[in-house]
Amino acid sequence: MPAQINRQFQLAKRPVGVPDRDTFSYVEVPLGEPGPGQILVKNQYLSLDPAMRGWMNDARSYVPPVGIGQVMRALGVGQVIASQNPQFAVGDTVNGALGVQDYFLGEPAGFYKVDPKRAPLPLYLSALGMTGMTAYFGLLDVGQPKAGETVVVSAAAGAVGSVVGQIARIKGCRVVGIAGGAEKCRYLKEELGFDGAIDYKNEDVQAALKRECPKGVDVFFDNVGGDILDAVLTRLAPKARIVICGAISQYNNKEAVRGPANYLSLLVNRARMEGMVVIDYTSRFPEGIRDMSGWLAEGKLKSKEDVAEGLENFPEALLKLFSGENFGKLVLKI
Ligand SMILES: NC(=O)c1ccc[n+]([C@@H]2O[C@H](COP(=O)([O-])OP(=O)(O)OC[C@H]3O[C@@H](n4cnc5c(N)ncnc54)[C@H](OP(=O)(O)O)[C@@H]3O)[C@@H](O)[C@H]2O)c1
Repeated sequence: MPAQINRQFQLAKRPVGVPDRDTFSYVEVPLGEPGPGQILVKNQYLSLDPAMRGWMNDARSYVPPVGIGQVMRALGVGQVIASQNPQFAVGDTVNGALGVQDYFLGEPAGFYKVDPKRAPLPLYLSALGMTGMTAYFGLLDVGQPKAGETVVVSAAAGAVGSVVGQIARIKGCRVVGIAGGAEKCRYLKEELGFDGAIDYKNEDVQAALKRECPKGVDVFFDNVGGDILDAVLTRLAPKARIVICGAISQYNNKEAVRGPANYLSLLVNRARMEGMVVIDYTSRFPEGIRDMSGWLAEGKLKSKEDVAEGLENFPEALLKLFSGENFGKLVLKI
């Protein structure tokens, strides 16, 4: 029988600006067998995340960069097809850092089991996965919204942002989303129940914030940074909280990241700005998953997945995150 092949995308070089197909090398390697403590997983869905752009940089961060020649890091779900690890059996469905490849072979550090009968697999990468947990803990733990307050979220129609806004609504807040394009803004208001939406591609964000947030902004959950962060800084309410979840507008910069020019608004409003990284909340995920599952079952929370297909299309699929072509949590079906 011919040896089975594992297709992989390895990091070929550190991109300057927007990554492209040449950032990666596509290779086909023979598939090995698990050694002691290892498992072999057939990857089914990979999570495509803006953070992957940061992992390509040779810079200190909350996880080490991907090395040149290493398989590009990606979270995903897949099925165990061989195991020499007593914690995982053949047939288990697992969630972990599977990498951009057809099969994962190695020690399942940080992997956990999910039940494919309880929810469609992509949901374990969106509302019930790292994305949903980012929204849940970032908003509730760091943003600390109170009923009646105004919550603004950027990249609001995206995976994290759309969940943030819905949780804020569940908690009784007035919610305004900032997103690119009329269709995304319509979706926020008509399908997710946001109170207001700002189309940053077609309107003046500062003027629109004045219209949508007459009493100021109590919580800003920021996924974008740059001009949008600066605009929201001018509309803070006293004691406002800004959650720095991400800054996607800055990830492909060729020059230094642009910092917030209007930060003195924090002083004037006795406000605070705090970063959050979801991995700090791993031990509390069961709490988040319990609430999110309940809200999904009650119909209070909607999760939208955008499924791209085919490992071979990985480089182009990833770029949808930076052009805004994705609508919902972007996953790649293998
Ligand atoms: N801190 C953490 O632990 C953590 C964990 C997960 C994710 N994050 C961060 O959360 C943010 C959202 O991630 P996600 O996975 O939910 O992705 P996503 O929002 O589903 O997709 C990214 C969206 O960002 C918007 N965007 C791209 N370039 C932009 C620009 N230059 N200016 C304004 N908007 C831009 C696009 O929406 P439009 O069409 O609206 O432009 C795009 O759809 C990212 O910043 C990510 O790094 C942080």
